[in-house]
Amino acid sequence: MKLGIDQQRLLTEIETLAAFSDAVPPAVTRIAFTPTDLKARAWVISRCEEAGLTVRQDAVGNTFARWSGAAPGAPAVGTGSHIDAIPNAGKYDGVVGVLGGLEAIRALQRSGFRPKNSIELLVFATEEPTRFGIGCLGSRLLSGTLSADTAGRLRDRDGESMDAVRRKAGLNGDLQDVKLPTGYYKGFVELHIEQGPLLERAQISLGVVMSIAAPASLRISIEGAGGHAGSVLMPDRKDALCAAAELILAVENAAQSRAAADTVATVGVCDVFPGAVNSIPSRVRMTLDIRDTDLTRRDGVMQTIELASQNTAAKRHVSIQSELLNADAPAHCAPEVRTALADSCRKHGAGFLEMVSRAYHDSLFISRIAPTGMLFIPCRNGYSHRPDEYAAPEDITRGALVLAEALAKMST
Ligand code: GLV
Ligand code: MN
Ligand code: MN
Repeated sequence: MKLGIDQQRLLTEIETLAAFSDAVPPAVTRIAFTPTDLKARAWVISRCEEAGLTVRQDAVGNTFARWSGAAPGAPAVGTGSHIDAIPNAGKYDGVVGVLGGLEAIRALQRSGFRPKNSIELLVFATEEPTRFGIGCLGSRLLSGTLSADTAGRLRDRDGESMDAVRRKAGLNGDLQDVKLPTGYYKGFVELHIEQGPLLERAQISLGVVMSIAAPASLRISIEGAGGHAGSVLMPDRKDALCAAAELILAVENAAQSRAAADTVATVGVCDVFPGAVNSIPSRVRMTLDIRDTDLTRRDGVMQTIELASQNTAAKRHVSIQSELLNADAPAHCAPEVRTALADSCRKHGAGFLEMVSRAYHDSLFISRIAPTGMLFIPCRNGYSHRPDEYAAPEDITRGALVLAEALAKMST
């Protein structure tokens, strides 16, 4: 089998997909189920059909593109990632795993390889938490981690339910049917940019992921008292934003004080009401993201944050409510998939680093229903979730090549 990646075509496709965006280039914004996201998905489907793959979509919009193997009834070998993008993102997050996965399949087809197990490209729906406040919605449903009812009732900022939004997008199937049957996948591999600096620093071109950190998110609402910014004297105030400021620093400290590189905590959303310069903030809503590779340590950080909330509420005479959005367990990549990836790296003379994924991915949930692994390629300065996210053509090509080799191994 002689495998060759069509680098020019793959890079052109990445550029074409980046043009489906609601931001000024080079930024990419592609929020789940917006007209832009739906057009981008339709374009990816047309690419898959052109490659002769059989495409189906489930009720939440997960898109499956299958190359039928010699044993079509046997469990499939899956690969893929997502194409939705957070506001002001780059071109590569998720996209490298989707278009790189498609090119890996095309490279196998060109080589004359015939898989025994079908090989399936999976474009997950709603990986980013932007619209419904919770990440990996598609893979949570596929893996049965989230119930169809809970998923359907999630609301976006405009108060529209996920169920209504997906129906407007023409997805009218039953959300109960999204869960994959047991044994659907023999194995699954996701190609992704590292989203961190370690590969670049080590000057190693590939990463074979050992485990994926466990994310948790909390929504915190602080209610204080508003009033005139001139006439309410300082001792009489219950400023919700000052309470939030204190709590945000406590969140930072809760992670920092663990002194473990894998412990991180972020307040990425902070909405202030009423948001007028001459009005004391009466209400703040924040969303917190807390992650670790160690579940006990991650949960310890959450307890510390809960205590800090109680202290701030008492000290500042405000009310603080927190709502747990998700608290997931870390994933350990399957030894057989890691071995397939490591062997493929060796076969193509590519050095690799065994590493942790500190970002979460749909693989976190697919690992609950199938042996799963991830292959990382470097991204410049470790930048991701920003417009200057960049992966070099040779790294993208190498990633697709090693992925193709691993898919071949897993499907024979
Ligand atoms: C995924 O985008 C993450 O936030 O890790
Ligand atoms: Mn992302
Ligand atoms: Mn991603």
